[in-house]
Amino acid sequence: MTLRISDLGKHYGDVPVFEHVTLEVADGEFVAIVGESGVGKSTLLNCMAVLDSWDAGTVLHDGTDIGRLDAEARALWRRKNVGFVFQAFHVLPHLDVAQNVALPLMLLGQRDDGRVARMLDAVGLGGLGPRLPQQLSGGQLQRVAIARALVHAPALLLADEPTGNLDPATAARVMDVLLAQTRAHGASLVLVTHSEAAAARADRVLHLSAEGIRV
Ligand SMILES: Nc1ncnc2c1ncn2[C@@H]1O[C@H](COP(=O)(O)OP(=O)(O)OP(=O)(O)O)[C@@H](O)[C@H]1O
Ligand SMILES: [Mg+2]
Repeated sequence: MTLRISDLGKHYGDVPVFEHVTLEVADGEFVAIVGESGVGKSTLLNCMAVLDSWDAGTVLHDGTDIGRLDAEARALWRRKNVGFVFQAFHVLPHLDVAQNVALPLMLLGQRDDGRVARMLDAVGLGGLGPRLPQQLSGGQLQRVAIARALVHAPALLLADEPTGNLDPATAARVMDVLLAQTRAHGASLVLVTHSEAAAARADRVLHLSAEGIRV
């Protein structure tokens, strides 16, 4: 999926989060976004999935202005096309691990227990499907969130600090899974990260700062 963001601006009251952000992500491309804490990386990623609103500019996916769809059409579009790894995981506490990972497939009416088990294996959580989230470590929860974002093979994967809670060896393995899955499906990947090792694997690194976004 191609993504084109033009002159995007977002404020809270009089305080700008970012202004004049313009960027493109080509079909199948892996772009990393880096920048200091608080510059608006998570906010920008949320805008890419139209999970947040903006005050200026446009966000186009495959040439379509998703921001102009009504809420229901937008939710359906997101469900089908986007995988999102949230910085704060947002794993559902009352569902077990396998049910959390299966959720995107269930919403699409495509239940596939084998696929769920393979995704859990891929992120190193094989056998933990029946556990509840409260019985997992922070790094394990992060990997549940990654498996859930990948399970329905989305055309656009947006990942916010997906290796932030992982030791270097596990982080590298999880990056392998993210890349293998996105490359296998020709998906585009936008990764927000503070990790130089993760950013180094991207096709392109963009730096977000108060001055805007630059290569
Ligand atoms: N509801 C809100 N009201 C006012 N300001 C907000 C609100 N939500 C976020 N902000 C501000 O917007 C800015 C961007 O936040 P964001 O979470 O996008 O930063 P970030 O680059 O992802 O930071 P980090 O690297 O720490 O995750 C921050 O300065 C934050 O304080
Ligand atoms: Mg953030």
